[in-house]
Amino acid sequence: MSRNESVLVVGVGASRGLGAAIARRFASGGYAVVVAGRTAEKVEKVAAEISSAGASAVAVVGDASAEADAERFVDAAEAAGPLAVAVHNAGTNRRDPFLELAAEHFTQLWREHCLGGFLVGRAAVRRMIHRGAGSILFTGATGSLRGRAQFAAFAAAKAGLRAVAQSMAREFGPKGIHVANVIIDGGIEGDRLLARFPDATERRGPDGLLRIDAIAESFWQLHAQHRSAWTHELDLRPWAEPF
Ligand SMILES: NC(=O)c1ccc[n+]([C@@H]2O[C@H](COP(=O)([O-])OP(=O)(O)OC[C@H]3O[C@@H](n4cnc5c(N)ncnc54)[C@H](OP(=O)(O)O)[C@@H]3O)[C@@H](O)[C@H]2O)c1
Repeated sequence: MSRNESVLVVGVGASRGLGAAIARRFASGGYAVVVAGRTAEKVEKVAAEISSAGASAVAVVGDASAEADAERFVDAAEAAGPLAVAVHNAGTNRRDPFLELAAEHFTQLWREHCLGGFLVGRAAVRRMIHRGAGSILFTGATGSLRGRAQFAAFAAAKAGLRAVAQSMAREFGPKGIHVANVIIDGGIEGDRLLARFPDATERRGPDGLLRIDAIAESFWQLHAQHRSAWTHELDLRPWAEPF
C-alpha cells in the first residue's frame, strides 16, 4: 500500500544494521523512505536494495551533526512526500579509560548522538508542526540510563539525547507529534558488533543479541500507536539478557 508520505531514517550504514532495517520496515509499509548517512556507498546500497524490492527509497549523504545537512535530510524527505516519521539512529561508540578520554572524542560522540538528534528532531518538528501529526523516534542504548566504566563519552551523549527526547515530547506531544526514545539494552546482531566480535552470536546463545528486524518492528509499532496510548520510552532487550 502506497501512503504518499515519507519517512526519514538518519544513521543508515550496513545492510545488516539497525538503520537499514528500520528503513526496510517503513518501506515495506508503503512509505517513501529517505536513507541518510555519512558514507555514500553504504546508503546508496541500502536504497538500491529497497528500490529493487519494489519500494521507494532515496539516499542522502551528510553529517547529521552539521545543521545544514540535518536540514537537507529533512528537505529530501519532504520532497518525497509529507514527512510522517523521522528516525535519528546515528552514532558510534568507543571505550576509553577515563583518564585517557580525549576532549575531542568526548565531543565527537556528543555531536553524533545528542547534537545530531537535536538538529534532526528540530528540523523534522518544523515541518510536522503545521500538520499536527508525525513521529520522531530516537535510538537509545543502555548508556542512555547508566554510565558504565570507560564509556563516559557514550553515556553522556546518549543521556543527553534522552533529555532532548523528553523535552521535545513534553512540548510537542500536545501538538500532535509523537516523540519516543527506544532504549536498546543489549548487543545488536548487525555488522557493527559482529565486525568487532565475530563469535558474539555464538557466545550469547540463541536470540541472545537483538535482531535488527525485531527492533525495526518496534519502531513501526511506535508510529502506529493511537495517540490515546502513546509510549514515550521503550526498552528492548534479548529474553535472556540480565538487567
Ligand atoms: N550495535 C550495537 O550493539 C548497539 C547497541 C545498543 C544501541 N545501539 C545504537 O544503535 C544505533 C546504531 O545501530 P547499529 O549499531 O546497528 O548501526 P547502523 O544502524 O548499521 O549504522 C549507524 C550509522 O550511523 C552513521 N552515523 C554516525 N554518525 C553519523 C552522523 N553524524 N551523521 C550521519 N550518519 C552518522 C554511521 O555511519 P558510518 O558508517 O559512516 O560510521 C553508521 O553507518 C546507534 O544509535 C547505537 O548507539 C547499537
